[in-house]
Amino acid sequence: MQTWTTAAYLIAALLFVVSLAGLSKHETSRAGVGFGIAGMTIALLATVATALGTAPVWGVVLLLVALLVGALIGLWRARVVEMTGMPELIALMHSFVGLAAVLVGWNGFLEVEAGHIELAGAMAGVHHAEVAIGVFIGAVTFTGSVVAYLKLSARIASAPLQLPGKNLLNLGALAAFTVLTVVFVSSPGMWILAVLTALALLQGLHLVASIGGGDMPVVVSMLNSYSGWAAAAAGFLLANDLLIITGALVGSSGAYLSYVMCKAMNRSFVSVIAGGFGASTASSSGPGVSGEHREIDAQGVADLLSAARSVVIAPGYGMAVAQAQAPVADLSRRLRDQGVAVRFGVHPVAGRLPGHMNVLLAEAQVPYDIVLEMDEINDDLADTDIVLVIGANDTVNPAAAEDPASPIAGMPVLRVWEAGNVIVFKRSMATGYAGVQNPLFFRDNSHMLFGDAAERVQDILTAFRSSTPAR
Ligand code: TAP
Repeated sequence: MQTWTTAAYLIAALLFVVSLAGLSKHETSRAGVGFGIAGMTIALLATVATALGTAPVWGVVLLLVALLVGALIGLWRARVVEMTGMPELIALMHSFVGLAAVLVGWNGFLEVEAGHIELAGAMAGVHHAEVAIGVFIGAVTFTGSVVAYLKLSARIASAPLQLPGKNLLNLGALAAFTVLTVVFVSSPGMWILAVLTALALLQGLHLVASIGGGDMPVVVSMLNSYSGWAAAAAGFLLANDLLIITGALVGSSGAYLSYVMCKAMNRSFVSVIAGGFGASTASSSGPGVSGEHREIDAQGVADLLSAARSVVIAPGYGMAVAQAQAPVADLSRRLRDQGVAVRFGVHPVAGRLPGHMNVLLAEAQVPYDIVLEMDEINDDLADTDIVLVIGANDTVNPAAAEDPASPIAGMPVLRVWEAGNVIVFKRSMATGYAGVQNPLFFRDNSHMLFGDAAERVQDILTAFRSSTPAR
């Protein structure tokens, strides 16, 4: 049985690797998800089969009940969750992984205390080090993810907590963890593990509470990585190869994603994993952001578009809220049919999770080859006649490039203001996710088209139909 289980785990692990590779490209992402599902199904079946052969009946019953309840909750959440609610759902799931690692760690300790596991000499030391490390990573992941969930779902304010000497606090907590681990390994005791757990819970809370709203995408990705390492640590304790491999895959791919996102947002990776960024004390709106904005109506936009040769569409979170991707795709097809060069410019953190815009555009059947990354399109924007900003705000904010006092200073943005005309689709003059006012709205070449993005795009299509029939 052991050989079969190992073989099944190995196949599942390989499928997870293939799945990750598939997920890295639009064209292969569906297949990637399929490989992931296949890997997880094999892993679950192998676990149940192993339990059938080794565990007592009540253990198998518990396992099956847990599987059923988990599968039902998973199915229900997957069906009802809005795309815009994915980041908080992901944060909540990370918290479960963290909590599981803490429980596995405590169980590993209590098993030895109760004499269910006999360990001697160096093996006991290794075991207790695994317990301490697993509990620490798990607890940091647990409370960090809960705070991220509360911030992302707006249940608590997204402003960063600014405790005096916060970096020193984080460093002090790490030093205390190291000392506690050494003491715990040399003379294991429940109180030491309890103090270590409490310290890690507070550390996770403080790390994420110190980070401001605009930097939350990197935090979610970082917690993803932490949850992977927590799972790997649990895998060592349970001597479960699949958990070790899967945890390491999630941990390293999450770390790499955090690195890519840090680069996209011009943040220091080291300061992110230390929870030390998001500490900007700049005013939330940045200095000097005011002026007159100009409004335009759908007919006015249709007239401008009729004369355009090149159009770039910059989608953002508002497109997801309005579910405007289908009308936006219709508009792009209509313009292309009229001979206009239409492309989409996607910022790496547009929306509320990595790839959010790409998923919506793919769903609306926008061809992949006209969907470009920010770096691929930025230099072309100055030669573009019109940019349609559909519910994007922070990701097209010139203050990031021009105002060193802005909380999002240094974050690369789509330089839409360089185009001939910019049409901003939004419902009001409100700020975006980072809470920063946007000077783009007051530029001479900007026009505001207020209202729900889906309705306004429909209005433009209607205006087109009544004035210029498609060729
Ligand atoms: P935001 O800066 O959040 O701006 C979205 C805009 O959409 C808002 O200004 C809002 O203005 C408008 N809007 C909302 N509903 C609308 C509707 N029904 N119709 C038309 N407009 C609507 O979005 P962004 O430019 O995509 O930037 C993303 C932000 O989220 C960044 O700050 C990023 O750091 C953060 N974030 C990103 C992620 C990832 S990984 N992508 C994860 C978490 C957070 P009105 O209210 O006036 O309509």
